Amino acid sequence: MKTIAVLTGGGDCPGLNAVIRGVVRSAVGTHGWRVIGIEDGFDGLLSGIKTRELDLKAVRGILQLGGTILGTSNHGNPLHYPVMEDGEVHWMDVSSQVVEHFNSIGADALIAVGGDGTLKIAQRLYELGMNVVGIPKTIDNDLKATDVTFGYNTAVGVVTEALDRLHTTAESHHRVMVVEVMGRDAGWIALESGISGGADVILLPEIPFSIEKVCAAIRRRRERGGRFSIVVVAEGASALDGEQVVQESANNRRGGVDRLGGIGEQVAGQITQCLDMEVRTVVLGHLQRGGTPSPFDRILGTRFGVKAVDLIADGDFGKMVALRGRSVVSTTLAEAVGSLNLVPAHGEMVQAAEKLGIMLGR
Ligand code: F6P
Repeated sequence: MKTIAVLTGGGDCPGLNAVIRGVVRSAVGTHGWRVIGIEDGFDGLLSGIKTRELDLKAVRGILQLGGTILGTSNHGNPLHYPVMEDGEVHWMDVSSQVVEHFNSIGADALIAVGGDGTLKIAQRLYELGMNVVGIPKTIDNDLKATDVTFGYNTAVGVVTEALDRLHTTAESHHRVMVVEVMGRDAGWIALESGISGGADVILLPEIPFSIEKVCAAIRRRRERGGRFSIVVVAEGASALDGEQVVQESANNRRGGVDRLGGIGEQVAGQITQCLDMEVRTVVLGHLQRGGTPSPFDRILGTRFGVKAVDLIADGDFGKMVALRGRSVVSTTLAEAVGSLNLVPAHGEMVQAAEKLGIMLGR
C-alpha cells in the first residue's frame, strides 16, 4: 500500500477542496492507499511538521466549500526562507530540510497544489529526489502550461455578478463606477468579466493606458446619452509613461488591500479631475477568491486531483497536470514554471472587446 501526501500552497482559490476530495477518493477509494494532508502549505513541512489523516470521511461534504480544508500560506517559501544567524536574518534555500521532514512522515509521493511559486518549489524538491506531482491553481489564470486554472471561472463569475449589481446603482446616480479586480500581472479576470459584465472601459496590465483617452471615451459616451460608465481596472494596470497615473511596486498593489490608493482609486481620482461626473471606486479584493466554487471549477479541480493520483500510480514524477483543449494531460514541472500566460494585447479577445465598443485605454 502506498502512502501519499497532499498540500495546498500560496493564496487560496475556489476548487481546492474539490482537488483534495478527488485525490482522496481516487487514492483511498480506488487504489486502497493512505493519504496524509500537510497543513498550511510548505509551512507544514518547515516550522514543525503539521499533518492530518485524510480518509474518505475527512473529505465528505467539502466539494462545494471554498478555501482549503488543509489551510495554506503564502509565506514560508523554502527557496527563500528567513534564518536567524548571529542576530541577523539570512534568506536561505532550506529545501533539503523540507525533504528531510517529508521523508520523516513516511510518504512515497507528494501532490503540491499551487500557483507559480508553489510549483517552483515542487520542481526544486523533485530535483532533490522527491517524488512530486504538481497541480496548478490560481484565480489569475496566468500559468502558461495549462489552458485554464481552476478558481478562475469562479472569480470571473463573482466579478460579473458585482458588475451587474454596480450597473443598476451607477445608472440610477449617473455615476462613473471604477471597479478594481485581481489578477496580479495578468488581465484575464478584468478582460473576461469586463466583457461578460458589460463594462465600458477595461484597463489591463498588458495594455498601458492613456487616462486622457479614458476620459475622452467616457465623455463621448455621455454625449451619446450614456449617463453612467463602468470602468474595470486590473490591479496590475498602469498608465502610459509620462502620464500621471502610474503603478507603484507590485507589493503595493497586490490583493487590493493593505495599501494606500491602489490603481482603482488613482484612476477614479484622475477621472474626477477630467470629467464633471461623480465617481465611485469599488475594490473587489478577496471576495473574488472566497466562497463556493463554480461547477466548472469543481469539475476541473476533481479531474486534476484524479489525474495527479494516476501519475503517481504510473511512477511519473516531476510532472504537472494541465488542461489542453478538453483533455486533462500532464506536462513537466520544469516546463510549467516561470512563464506567465498574459493577455495578448492584439489577440482575438481584445479585438472582440474593441469591436464591441469597449475602450481598452489605448
Ligand atoms: O494570485 C492570486 C491573488 O489573489 C492575486 O490576484 C492577488 O494579487 C494576490 O493573490 C493577493 O494575495 P494575498 O492577499 O493573499 O497576499
